Amino acid sequence: MLILGIDTSCDDTSVALYDSDSGFILADAVSSRMELHARYGGVVPEIAARQHLELLLPMIESVHEQAGVAPDPETIDLIAATRGPGLVGGLLVGFSCAKALSLGWNVPFVGVNHLDGHLVSISLTVKDIAFPHVAMIVSGGHSEIYRAISPAEHRLLGETRDDAAGELLDKVGRLLQVGFPAGETIDSWAMEIDPDEPHPKFPRPLLKQDNLEFSFSGLKTACLYFLRSDESKNYSRESIGAEVMRSVVDCLLGRAFKACKVENLDTLVISGGVASSGYLRNEASRRAQKAGLNVLFPDKKYCTDNASMIALAGLNRYQKSGPDPFDLDCEASLTLSSN
Ligand code: KG4
Ligand code: ZN
Repeated sequence: MLILGIDTSCDDTSVALYDSDSGFILADAVSSRMELHARYGGVVPEIAARQHLELLLPMIESVHEQAGVAPDPETIDLIAATRGPGLVGGLLVGFSCAKALSLGWNVPFVGVNHLDGHLVSISLTVKDIAFPHVAMIVSGGHSEIYRAISPAEHRLLGETRDDAAGELLDKVGRLLQVGFPAGETIDSWAMEIDPDEPHPKFPRPLLKQDNLEFSFSGLKTACLYFLRSDESKNYSRESIGAEVMRSVVDCLLGRAFKACKVENLDTLVISGGVASSGYLRNEASRRAQKAGLNVLFPDKKYCTDNASMIALAGLNRYQKSGPDPFDLDCEASLTLSSN
């Protein structure tokens, strides 16, 4: 089957063509007008929705061109678009476009949970992933740990009580006057800084507690108060940002490794935008070796938002429950249980 995937859940407009017979992505494209959002220090929902409207159809044409196939009902077998969670204006653009193409081409369509996309994204990199395993999503909107029972079944083990890991990095980035989004820059500081350079010490929230939850908002407050103090003048902003990254990674890996222990599983899959962090990847493999765990990451291009993962999750959904009806709606706060 050839599946057209569409993701317009946040600022990225993403389109992909996935060939399930060969297991290959034939073509994919991601486009963002981040320079417009960056002026406001975060994603502006209306700008994002207007961008999706402008870019989506030309991008659908261009991925077909890249793949060397015609954009018509003879070639496409299924259309999959993100239904939620996300910014509702953007979701409506992608979802309505998918429904319109489905109606015009007489090709089935499915609405996909964006979290399902992140959870299956590992299969675009690692074929025949073993189930069950522990799966952690770390992105700008989510920090959650699941027991992945099968590609279509996940049990939530723990989540953040407040900010997501990527959201925290972006907020700290604002305090440190880094452009938005800040995750990549702060990650590069953590990777490059001399570990012997003097640095402040921030807390590792909830790490010692007997649960699988995260709390990142206190870390932002700790950073804010530290920056207001005279002591902060003794440290570079790189050393402050790197310490925030170290704290985030300690919390993420501490909880995820604990989940493996509690669930008696030795494979951990980490996905979502923050999973493209080189520092997180290095620390995960270093600590996994010691703990006897197998930690897997999708390729970086499949960690941040992309439509390839939506096409794959859409195929799983279609094979499980067939096409979705046209009266299916987008949901800004869709959870995995309300799929
Ligand atoms: O998955 P994603 O593209 O969008 C959401 O679904 O949220 O994740 C975006 C988040 C942003 O907060 C961004 O700062 C963070 O991922 N991010 C990173 C890196 N690249 C993106 N965080 C740490 N290190 C990176 N290299
Ligand atoms: Zn995402």
